[in-house]
Amino acid sequence: MYKLTGVSKQFVSQDRIVKAVRDVDLHIEKNEIFGIIGSSGAGKSTLVRCLNLLEKPDQGQVEYKGVDLMQLSKKDLNEERKNIGMIFQNFNLFSSRTVFENIAFPLKGKSKDFIKNRVMELLSLVDLSDKVNAYPSQLSGGQKQRVAIARALANEPDVLLCDEATSALDPQSTNSILDLLKDLNKQMNLTIILITHEMDVIKRICDRVAIMSDGYIIEMGSVVDVFVNPKKEASKEFTLQTYGFNEVRKLLKKLNYSGKNLELVYGDNSASQALISVISQKFNVEINIISGYIEVISDQTIGRLVVNIDGEADAIEAAINHLKIEGVIVNDFI
Ligand SMILES: Nc1ncnc2c1ncn2[C@@H]1O[C@H](COP(=O)(O)OP(=O)(O)OP(=O)(O)O)[C@@H](O)[C@H]1O
Ligand SMILES: [Mg+2]
Repeated sequence: MYKLTGVSKQFVSQDRIVKAVRDVDLHIEKNEIFGIIGSSGAGKSTLVRCLNLLEKPDQGQVEYKGVDLMQLSKKDLNEERKNIGMIFQNFNLFSSRTVFENIAFPLKGKSKDFIKNRVMELLSLVDLSDKVNAYPSQLSGGQKQRVAIARALANEPDVLLCDEATSALDPQSTNSILDLLKDLNKQMNLTIILITHEMDVIKRICDRVAIMSDGYIIEMGSVVDVFVNPKKEASKEFTLQTYGFNEVRKLLKKLNYSGKNLELVYGDNSASQALISVISQKFNVEINIISGYIEVISDQTIGRLVVNIDGEADAIEAAINHLKIEGVIVNDFI
């Protein structure tokens, strides 16, 4: 669907150069939900704006369905952009227009009957038929984002770009919007490219994820792989933010155990917590569970324990080896 090669974009402001996107190579497949995560200023919005050329890269190529977007004439680019919907954090609705008029906006030039049918169809899709004549100020944040999604889908795009689409919403509305996006992905074969700074958003609906830092993509892969076994130190810190490990570190400092502190990560196909009692007996080591999380990512159950293991040095090593053989990822917890 998308192929980016060596894409870079910099901004020059007041003698300062900001390299917002640096040398990004990216393939996005048809029908996938692709997440881009990174801290503020990492370059996420700039990268996504390069996908529809709202931002024109200084270097590199942006291919969409095999077409090099930068080679298109203005007219052809505008035509191609109809296939690329976009939604934003602040919804960007016209406040003086009704829900109907907002959604009808991209359909200008079509017949009145066509517009009416299409808008009602879209409203039903986003479950908002009863708000057809409401104004944006009369809607909740989640409802406004549903209108924005309906409007972005008016011209039946193949891909939807979402820039922090749920960041202004409470957790419940966030989940309902994410579920809607997932349904649209399944039902309409809509490819979705989603930017967020929230791990939970990625974990809930994305198939693959790229982590951005300082303009670079520093890690990319299936959501499970990146979260279970991040390769780069910077992305590791990033993926671990959700687990409150700083608190765990403070606790461990207070407990001041001897032995070793470890992080154990295991999936469906490897051990469960039962393994802890097995190795503690088999190798005569004492294991204290300090913290534990079990979560479901892309339909796979992932367990993550922080433990202290104590005993003879040889016994500890043998126990760790056994865990690894059983498919558990064992990291020093420092
Ligand atoms: N039009 C612009 N002019 C100058 N600098 C810009 C412009 N747009 C973005 N930048 C700079 O480029 C860098 C990347 O910005 P970008 O908006 O892509 O980050 P982001 O990852 O989306 O951050 P956030 O999570 O805060 O939205 C930042 O340092 C930003 O200040
Ligand atoms: Mg942004």
